[in-house]
Amino acid sequence: MKLCFFLCLLCSFTFLALGSNVSYDGRSLIIDGQRKLLLSASIHYPRSVPAMWPSLVQTAKEGGIDVIETYVFWNGHELSPGNYYFGGRFDLVKFVKIVQQAGMYLILRIGPFVAAEWNYGGVPVWLHYIPGTVFRTYNQPFMSHMQNFTTYIVNLMKQEKLFASQGGPIILSQIENEYGYYENFYKEDGKKYAMWAAKMAVAQNTGVPWIMCQQWDAPDPVIDTCNSFYCDQFKPTSPNRPKIWTENWPGWFKTFGGRNPHRPAEDVAYAVARFFQKGGSVQNYYMYHGGTNFGRTAGGPFITTSYDYDAPIDEYGLPRFPKWGHLKELHRAIKLCERVLLNGKSVNITLGPSVEADVYTDESGACAAFIANIDDKNDRTVEFRNMSYHLPAWSVSILPDCKNVVFNTAKVSTQTHVVSMIDENLQQSDKGAVAFKWDVLKENAGIWGEADFVKTGFVDLINTTKDTTDYLWHTTSIYVGEHEGFLKNGSKPVLLINSTGHALHAFVNQEYQGTGTGNGTHSPFFFKNPIPLRAGKNEIALLCLTVGLPTAGPFYDFVGAGLISVKIKGFNNGTVDLSSSAWSYKIGVQGEQLKLYQGDGSSSVKWTTTSKPPKGQALTWYKAVVDAPSGDEPIGLDMLHMGKGLAWLNGEEIGRYWSRNSEFEEKDCVQECDYRGKFLPDKCDTDCGKPTQKWYHVPRSWFKPSGNILVIFEEKGGDPTKIKFLRRKVTGACANVAEDYPSIGLDSQGEDKINKNTPFARLTCPGNTIISSVKFASFGTPTGKCGSYLLGSCHDPNSSTVVEKACLNKNNCVVKLTKENFKNNLCPGSSRKLAVEAICS
Ligand SMILES: *[C@@H]1O[C@H](CO)[C@@H](O)[C@H](O)[C@H]1NC(C)=O
Ligand SMILES: *[C@@H]1O[C@H](CO)[C@@H](O)[C@H](O)[C@H]1NC(C)=O
Ligand SMILES: *[C@@H]1O[C@H](CO)[C@@H](O)[C@H](O)[C@H]1NC(C)=O
Ligand SMILES: *[C@@H]1O[C@H](CO)[C@@H](O)[C@H](O)[C@H]1NC(C)=O
Ligand SMILES: *[C@@H]1O[C@H](CO)[C@@H](O)[C@H](O)[C@H]1NC(C)=O
Ligand SMILES: *[C@@H]1O[C@H](CO)[C@@H](O)[C@H](O)[C@H]1NC(C)=O
Ligand SMILES: *[C@@H]1O[C@H](CO)[C@@H](O)[C@H](O)[C@H]1NC(C)=O
Ligand SMILES: *[C@@H]1O[C@H](CO)[C@@H](O)[C@H](O)[C@H]1NC(C)=O
Ligand SMILES: *[C@@H]1O[C@H](CO)[C@@H](O)[C@H](O)[C@H]1NC(C)=O
Ligand SMILES: *[C@@H]1O[C@H](CO)[C@@H](O)[C@H](O)[C@H]1NC(C)=O
Repeated sequence: MKLCFFLCLLCSFTFLALGSNVSYDGRSLIIDGQRKLLLSASIHYPRSVPAMWPSLVQTAKEGGIDVIETYVFWNGHELSPGNYYFGGRFDLVKFVKIVQQAGMYLILRIGPFVAAEWNYGGVPVWLHYIPGTVFRTYNQPFMSHMQNFTTYIVNLMKQEKLFASQGGPIILSQIENEYGYYENFYKEDGKKYAMWAAKMAVAQNTGVPWIMCQQWDAPDPVIDTCNSFYCDQFKPTSPNRPKIWTENWPGWFKTFGGRNPHRPAEDVAYAVARFFQKGGSVQNYYMYHGGTNFGRTAGGPFITTSYDYDAPIDEYGLPRFPKWGHLKELHRAIKLCERVLLNGKSVNITLGPSVEADVYTDESGACAAFIANIDDKNDRTVEFRNMSYHLPAWSVSILPDCKNVVFNTAKVSTQTHVVSMIDENLQQSDKGAVAFKWDVLKENAGIWGEADFVKTGFVDLINTTKDTTDYLWHTTSIYVGEHEGFLKNGSKPVLLINSTGHALHAFVNQEYQGTGTGNGTHSPFFFKNPIPLRAGKNEIALLCLTVGLPTAGPFYDFVGAGLISVKIKGFNNGTVDLSSSAWSYKIGVQGEQLKLYQGDGSSSVKWTTTSKPPKGQALTWYKAVVDAPSGDEPIGLDMLHMGKGLAWLNGEEIGRYWSRNSEFEEKDCVQECDYRGKFLPDKCDTDCGKPTQKWYHVPRSWFKPSGNILVIFEEKGGDPTKIKFLRRKVTGACANVAEDYPSIGLDSQGEDKINKNTPFARLTCPGNTIISSVKFASFGTPTGKCGSYLLGSCHDPNSSTVVEKACLNKNNCVVKLTKENFKNNLCPGSSRKLAVEAICS
């Protein structure tokens, strides 16, 4: 009793002692009296697995990140009203504590509406079916549930002492999300709702400030923040609020049938440097690790299972070079300026056309300058404090002492990685392991068991499945008289379907006839295919599907999906309209109901074991027992030769797969991306005409050493013999550094040091792999890019020797561009650089 009392005293004492005071003014957040310049990174806990969290957070920290930002995913937590779940990927407390243990801060974006390319924007689907509910407006049922969930999360964080005011890592929380775009659609109720949300949040008494992003009327003390590709021109609505950038998009998401977007590292760095140049104090990358939309968590229509986002950490958890490395160097350069940026005074100077300098000074005599060339085509040379500076177009130079440039956003001196997907089967072929051995089970094409209901005409897909499944069967029949002309002359009637989505597979008399898909918007699409009809009764079965529910937009909760009309053309009497026929409906496919993807469900049915699994067969379940791929690299499942469907490993949901080609022509993609000029999502796309996604991340922690069960449900037909695991492996490293590239410098131990400007190339192989050979090395005027460097007209023949001497058999090495290492009198007058490609093994 006494001991307990003493312990409690002790713990409440430590808690008081560790609690932080987070406040703010017009310049920055102030934590325990200290101004903070914060670099933040979005990592969404359910988009990876707990086994990956510590290393993702650590990789962010090594990248110079101070804060992890995450949304809270309401529909992953409140599975039915009052029924909460915080297990597995949804263990929010565990995630926040991992961030805390890494000594980092956290921004908790509760929402609980989040958009986020997440199914239904994060709001539980059941809430739509509570009578009278309208999302995101002054609506009692919505507000009541929103308030209760917000309170639940806040209380959970309080219980675990996770707010900074309690000694925890959470320094900011967010209510709602980008509501400013939509407020006016809801008339007066929009405004009332936004003000209510802010007040409700503040009343939660977390002891740390609240933010609302893209919310231009956020009331005090809530801080309005910016989401965009650029936020340097953003000004909070009150001068007493700091300039916070909650979403800087370093890439973009993909949709099935769309292209593969990339944002160049030079432009991301430019945007960040401009933001801090112009008085910003908190900047967050959305996403820093995008991860995976496992299971059916992807929003829609058509958001891919991969949420890689071209982020600084790739979907599989590997740092993405050069982006991760370039931003790490940027962060170091900005941090060198932190004190004078936050505590000094600034003036801006125009140094020439399109060249802006912002100079920060304080009483101690410290000085830091950011010089930007905002011209998107022309390089400039300017004079600043009696020194000459060359600035590439669309770049910012950072001078932490107003003299030495330690970083320029357009000069990428960090290494690049060569990343490969290693074919597991090839690796194992010497051991005799080839393709998986499949068990097979066919689904019925149409109603299985009893129909759920019969109705004249069509229903809304979402209202009917309530998103318990992607699938809704519609079946009807048509009687064909013996005298139909097409029966005699061999032509085929044509099935014509108009539908708002999101996709459908058509079957006639159990045979697959084709697939219709929309373009990823809510617009209607049209399906037209000749079909074989016979005399007598014919069954028409349509498997209509949703591919992710809408994630945002005014009244998005009321956007429906489903058939508009179904007709058949080519009868003696013309076109037959089946739209107002009697249709039988069945929600889901039978294998889902039987849970064929889980142990018990899988053993409840009789699979056919075969060494020749059927190819191109629609509505088929495949099951194989598989070993864990060797090694410790992340794993991808190659589904390129499959059609469309769902995949599971050991009952864990890998997600939707769909080998849909991007419906774009070569001209809609780029070969080389010009980083200069304003970025938009489609500026630097690749993979036109190619499948949007062919590899699906399967977390290594889901594997047992052997006896793993891989289950696939294929909707339209594919070739399961081509399914294989691939390991994502870094097989090489490249560097490409010019003599005029700034560097923070190195001391004799190879540690970073300020103001010793010798450019250098640094190569690091991942983990405990080493540089086993140098594939290419040239000091001079080499051309090309990593993987395909070529010698230029000028080349120091000793380049390879020098690089090999410094790097062979080492995990990492530094090669300085000095006259000791390379010929000083080589091609005078030209801009010289060192390009290296090394093999890691
Ligand atoms: C927290 O810090 C702010 C600004 O530094 C100060 O005004 C406020 O009084 C502090 N609050 C507490 C509870 O110490
Ligand atoms: C919200 O919580 C309050 C207090 O616990 C409760 O009275 C109310 O019924 C809850 N609202 C909903 C919609 O569950
Ligand atoms: C330059 O500084 C002045 C005075 O602080 C300010 O009014 C102006 O907006 C600044 N201009 C730019 C381009 O930042
Ligand atoms: C630049 O040079 C001029 C003339 O030589 C000198 O007066 C001035 O102080 C110098 N400025 C700085 C910032 O060094
Ligand atoms: C037209 O022909 C089809 C197929 O024989 C038949 O089912 C349908 O009832 C006919 N419609 C009319 C209006 O005669
Ligand atoms: C076959 O018969 C159908 C129905 O009478 C007609 O629409 C079609 O044009 C004919 N096709 C050929 C090739 O004669
Ligand atoms: C599909 O239905 C929409 C909505 O009724 C209509 O506007 C469109 O014209 C139809 N498309 C076709 C090809 O019939
Ligand atoms: C999708 O299709 C609709 C209707 O055909 C069209 O208006 C819209 O521009 C298309 N959108 C995209 C992104 O292709
Ligand atoms: C879905 O059902 C709701 C009522 O539960 C109705 O308000 C809504 O209009 C329906 N949506 C569609 C697209 O039919
Ligand atoms: C190049 O290498 C050769 C032999 O290794 C050496 O003799 C020569 O001095 C080197 N040249 C330079 C410029 O370092």
